[in-house]
Amino acid sequence: MTAQDTTNASPLAPEWLTVPRDLNALQEPMWARTVERNDDGGLAVAGVSVAALKEQFGTPLFVMDESDFRARARAFKDSFDAAFADICGGVDVYYAGKSFLCTAVVKWVEEEGLRLDTASGGELAVAARAGIPGERVALHGNNKSDAEINRALDMKLGRIVVDSLAELERVGATAQARGEEAKVMLRLTPGVHAHTHEFIATAHEDQKFGLSMAEDTTGQAGLSAAEEAVAAAAAHPGIELLGLHCHIGSQIFEPDGFALAAEKLLRFLAAMQEKYSIVMPELDLGGGYGIAYTPVDTPRPAAEIAEAMAAVVRSTCAELGIDSPRISIEPGRAIVGSTTFTLYEVGTLKTVRVDAPGTASDGGNNVTYPRRYVSVDGGMSDNARPVLYDADYSAVLASRTSSAAPQLSRVVGKHCESGDIVVRDVYLPEDVAAGDLLAVPGTGAYCWALSSNYNYLARPGVVAVRDGSARLIVRGETEEDLLNRDMGV
Ligand SMILES: Cc1ncc(COP(=O)(O)O)c(C=O)c1O
Repeated sequence: MTAQDTTNASPLAPEWLTVPRDLNALQEPMWARTVERNDDGGLAVAGVSVAALKEQFGTPLFVMDESDFRARARAFKDSFDAAFADICGGVDVYYAGKSFLCTAVVKWVEEEGLRLDTASGGELAVAARAGIPGERVALHGNNKSDAEINRALDMKLGRIVVDSLAELERVGATAQARGEEAKVMLRLTPGVHAHTHEFIATAHEDQKFGLSMAEDTTGQAGLSAAEEAVAAAAAHPGIELLGLHCHIGSQIFEPDGFALAAEKLLRFLAAMQEKYSIVMPELDLGGGYGIAYTPVDTPRPAAEIAEAMAAVVRSTCAELGIDSPRISIEPGRAIVGSTTFTLYEVGTLKTVRVDAPGTASDGGNNVTYPRRYVSVDGGMSDNARPVLYDADYSAVLASRTSSAAPQLSRVVGKHCESGDIVVRDVYLPEDVAAGDLLAVPGTGAYCWALSSNYNYLARPGVVAVRDGSARLIVRGETEEDLLNRDMGV
């Protein structure tokens, strides 16, 4: 972490936010590997300056470091393969396409030896366009349409992750009518909820996803919804039951929650195999590995998480006397999140004064402190996470360096919502002015994917930069795109 400078600290800042000694520094875990400052002070990615990117593609713009994406994908695959080599011969890593998906990314995922997790017919369409073989693709969703189920069968998907008993019957009946067997994983809710720095285990599930493992969820004493589904799947002529799946949450730093879920699922898998005389050869432990959005976030390396999970799988299988099923995982954010920053241009600046308790020298009275609003040319339409989840981000001045004093700033968008905040609290140089470029790191996951056309803003493009050259992998929308679907007066 960069050393802090307490003299410029604002009482309006949240406790976790310290004043960096050097406002121009790029704090490591938040940025993609090839991002650095050029000799002129402007940011560059893989040798391409943000000035050049703005000139060629405009702003706002998602700027993705392709080699960083590939390295993170490969790190997951290699670390989990190594940790699980002696347990089940390696791990299948499904990149969670919901975090960010386009055909170029599918290609990279495949080239790095990963598979693809999708959650809708639209995401399957991207997979098909990219040409990834169906057996390397999974389909999720708690409300799959008949068209989506048929599309999954047409594409001969490696797995359909079934979310409910009703869906199991629909998938089974559809496959049977086609004279096929659908390859099915059952999504269970193990009662483990992980939440960034901690996890809680509960007996019951109150959420839309998955089949509960709690034993009174079917109205039949001792029978869980999960067991009911296993029994139904094992008996259904249209179903090939591959195994079990869970996903305990997102932006999780500690491996304990993953390990506990793995243990619960393995115990259940062993009990079901024995009771119904079946073998379930696969177990998917989902995604959810956290990344750094701010300087105080401390994500764990993939290898550390892999080791912790492998230790539990190894010991639980030994205790149960079963062979480990083939393990798979579904990271999204931890692969793509930190590969990307959003480049914005600064427009209007405004400083307000906000009441806050004074220091001892103010005699305990309230004092007003400045908060500066820095408006940029995007906002909640390209990053909904601050509004949706209260998510924190960080930002730096990207077009140049500055030796001006730090000023507590709030980076806001241009939408007609006062909640349209991109970075709630960040120290930026006090000479930031209209026309400067700002970069917000960690926007690779669930930003472009959740983008909208609110206020008829065109969605930004996504540019991939590698070895000194930049290419659009998703074109930004034009005004014509925005008007295309308007059927006229
Ligand atoms: C079933 C499932 N798998 C994987 C993921 C990916 O999670 P993350 O991007 O946090 O790794 C999600 C995210 O919601 C999910 O629902």
